[in-house]
Amino acid sequence: MQRRRFIRLAGSALGLAACRPESTGGTAVPTDPPAKPPADPPLRAEPILLGGQAQKILILGGTGFLGPHLVDAARARGHSVTLFNRGKTRPELFPDVEKLRGDRDGDLRALEGRTWDSVIDTSGYVPRVVRTSAELLAPHVRQYAFISTISVYADTSKVGIDEDSPVATAPDPKTEDVPSFYGALKALCERTVSEVFPERATNIRPGLIVGPYDPTDRFTYWPVRIAGGGEVLAPGDPAYATQFIDVRDLAAFIVGALEKGHVGTYNAVGLPIPMGDVLTRTRAALKSDATLEWVDVKFLDDNKVQPWSDMPAWAPPVEGFEGFASVKSERAVAAGLTIRPVEDTVTATMEWWKTLPEARRAKLRAGITREREAELLAAWHALHPPPGKAGKKPGAKPTKKTAKNLP
Ligand SMILES: NC(=O)c1ccc[n+]([C@@H]2O[C@H](COP(=O)([O-])OP(=O)(O)OC[C@H]3O[C@@H](n4cnc5c(N)ncnc54)[C@H](OP(=O)(O)O)[C@@H]3O)[C@@H](O)[C@H]2O)c1
Repeated sequence: MQRRRFIRLAGSALGLAACRPESTGGTAVPTDPPAKPPADPPLRAEPILLGGQAQKILILGGTGFLGPHLVDAARARGHSVTLFNRGKTRPELFPDVEKLRGDRDGDLRALEGRTWDSVIDTSGYVPRVVRTSAELLAPHVRQYAFISTISVYADTSKVGIDEDSPVATAPDPKTEDVPSFYGALKALCERTVSEVFPERATNIRPGLIVGPYDPTDRFTYWPVRIAGGGEVLAPGDPAYATQFIDVRDLAAFIVGALEKGHVGTYNAVGLPIPMGDVLTRTRAALKSDATLEWVDVKFLDDNKVQPWSDMPAWAPPVEGFEGFASVKSERAVAAGLTIRPVEDTVTATMEWWKTLPEARRAKLRAGITREREAELLAAWHALHPPPGKAGKKPGAKPTKKTAKNLP
């Protein structure tokens, strides 16, 4: 019973998974499978584009989280960049980059009559909208990189999901309900791009993207919390794995894929890493005196602490999610994906965090508050007193020592 409830919690919380429209969405494939998507063309080792020369790259988006890192990565490699967006999100960024204004859902006029070598689509969620830009650009752009997600996969219980694993479908193929069917719609967007750019499409499926500029704090929570010191509530078993990708590694991989002309579909995730390693290495990287208190899954379940949202970047391998943190990235690694050490991600994330205004830093957007953490730790210690000490009742007030560490 307990286990069932936690699985439900996990399911709804994991719906907050990787990406902005906050749902994995989709249902398992079998009942009404769509027509089989075109098979991926063979991966190419040599450039089909400019043979190593500088490219003109169009980014549909570019000013949120991944986009700015793409701009940096592309320009560092000598490419020129054009951004197409509505001018709503951080329009002040990149004053020396060409910006075209428009809404990809209905106003693509600024793209007409222009040519680029490659396009990177970071802002596609609805197949109809993606089709419009892909069809407009197909005669004028040689390669289209669509940023998808590992949320496309239908079955997270399978350990070792690879690019050929079945993708989710929506019950109504015409739906545009992105929050409910995020993964299924991304899969349809991929298929659309592959149809419009046959043998010229690159579909990239990132896992949880982390690092500087992440607006969600779904990894940032841990460095910030551990930097705060004191006793830190750590979820489940330290051996349970998690998986994520540093946004800078992702951006470098995408730009590299365009340079090398890699087409096809790629999972873009780091290797599975035990949560215990992430948190202890975070503590060491930040030279923090925090102590980690590993609290078991049953206790978290009993206290309605949700995986992923309350305990960011963490999902226990409970029924249905056994494969959630074991997605395979060998194909991307063979195509040039490199993964930096977690210490680098931690320190860069903290450097960025410190630059944010106080009001933004006052409240993390993921994880539990320090007050809630202190309550939970007090209840946990009451149930599990250190040897030789009498326990307190669950729900006891936070200890003075813990309360003192509150910001
Ligand atoms: N975050 C994760 O952990 C994660 C994991 C897996 C996959 N992903 C995928 O990775 C991608 C990352 O996205 P991002 O938000 O970081 O990209 P981004 O390019 O940094 O930001 C999104 C851009 O899209 C523009 N935009 C939004 N709606 C638009 C519209 N209707 N017309 C024109 N431009 C529009 C925004 O500017 P304006 O608002 O000014 O228009 C902004 O520049 C997404 O596709 C997401 O599904 C994310």
